[in-house]
Amino acid sequence: MSNLKYKTILLGVCGGIAAYKSAYLLRELQKQGAEVRVIMTRAAHDFITPLTFQALSGHVVYTDDYQSEQRGMEHIDLARWANAIVIAPATANFLARLAQGRAEDLLSSLCLAANIPLAVAPAMNREMWAQAATQANVELLRQRDITFFGPDSGEQACGETGDGRMLEPDVIVSLIANKLFSHGELAGKTIVVTAGPTHEAIDPVRFIANRSSGKMGYAVAQAAQEAGANVILVSGPTALQAPAKVKVINVVSAENMLQQVQNEISHCDIFISVAAVSDYRAATNAPQKLKKQETLTLELVKNPDILATIAEQHSDVFCVGFAAETNNVKEYALTKLQQKKLQLIVANQVSADAASVGFESDDNVLEIFGADGSHYEWERANKSQLARRLISLISEKYHAQHTS
Ligand SMILES: Cc1cc2nc3c(=O)[nH]c(=O)nc-3n(C[C@H](O)[C@H](O)[C@H](O)COP(=O)(O)O)c2cc1C
Repeated sequence: MSNLKYKTILLGVCGGIAAYKSAYLLRELQKQGAEVRVIMTRAAHDFITPLTFQALSGHVVYTDDYQSEQRGMEHIDLARWANAIVIAPATANFLARLAQGRAEDLLSSLCLAANIPLAVAPAMNREMWAQAATQANVELLRQRDITFFGPDSGEQACGETGDGRMLEPDVIVSLIANKLFSHGELAGKTIVVTAGPTHEAIDPVRFIANRSSGKMGYAVAQAAQEAGANVILVSGPTALQAPAKVKVINVVSAENMLQQVQNEISHCDIFISVAAVSDYRAATNAPQKLKKQETLTLELVKNPDILATIAEQHSDVFCVGFAAETNNVKEYALTKLQQKKLQLIVANQVSADAASVGFESDDNVLEIFGADGSHYEWERANKSQLARRLISLISEKYHAQHTS
């Protein structure tokens, strides 16, 4: 599958003849599964209308003429939302603004406020491109790790022939995929992570839940994203902020969670089940609030086992489970590893000392068992650190399995 799936890309369009090609570029990026937002310079409006990009992308187009949909802090918001910025076409004027670090319009402000990969696809007359001033700007920008896509050589809109044409959109798309998103040990892989507890309704105001905070699952999702993966986080109810650049699907019950995981799993390479899924749900969900009684007996029925179901139905997916146990951690974890046919199981003790590690805590202690017989014991550490270490281990095992 394309490594652009779920990638968030800002497409900057400047005022040059090639701006019409940016509409094709937008379409091609969307076909590859990328989420694209468009920002236009004022001069770009003279060449193509914002409405074209709005209609194609289905989203408001960001411009310097502030609209009611714009909040006024787009240069910051968009810079934090995106995985990368691609400016196509990039005019001579814009390259000069970028080289000087100017922030005099939305697009240049955004580039200055961003700390993400930035690529430019220059498009201009051959003399403009060859000018010492332009070449000095290009040199400076290259030194600052700005990626150049092109320009191409050939016949130009002005009738002259030479260097300065914008590359064709399909070439730019493959350069974005291969140059901007080829890094990271899990680049190009799609990972589904579940996190948090599930809530199983008893009546409209009550539910069965557990103490999972979702912190470990969110940290795993974030670490996988940092390793270059496309991450889909299917999250039970938590109070946590969505990790940056991760697609989050919120669910409530175990049945909802299974449904959403099944919707996403067919195009996924790795499944990491961190959620503390309730083993049981109430046999009936009362339509009205249950009245107080001397005693109340609740009949519980077993919930689907999400991890076992996915591992059984998708033997091609690399499955990793988490096992929170209060006792016999090793024995129970090994049984789960074998019975559920997993590649790795991550066990953590949630016992009397659960307030300091495990559920709700920022720290954890992990013991990991692999289907290949490997065994790791990781001392107490912050969940983010453990998550990064775990993602490295998953990556190593996944690649070993797929190259053997
Ligand atoms: C008809 C026409 C075509 C132009 N084509 C280009 C072009 O292809 N590349 C370029 O760098 N500038 C081109 N320019 C000049 C830019 O539009 C001008 O420098 C503008 O200020 C760029 O603004 P921007 O960088 O904010 O988009 C063209 C100007 C006109 C009138």
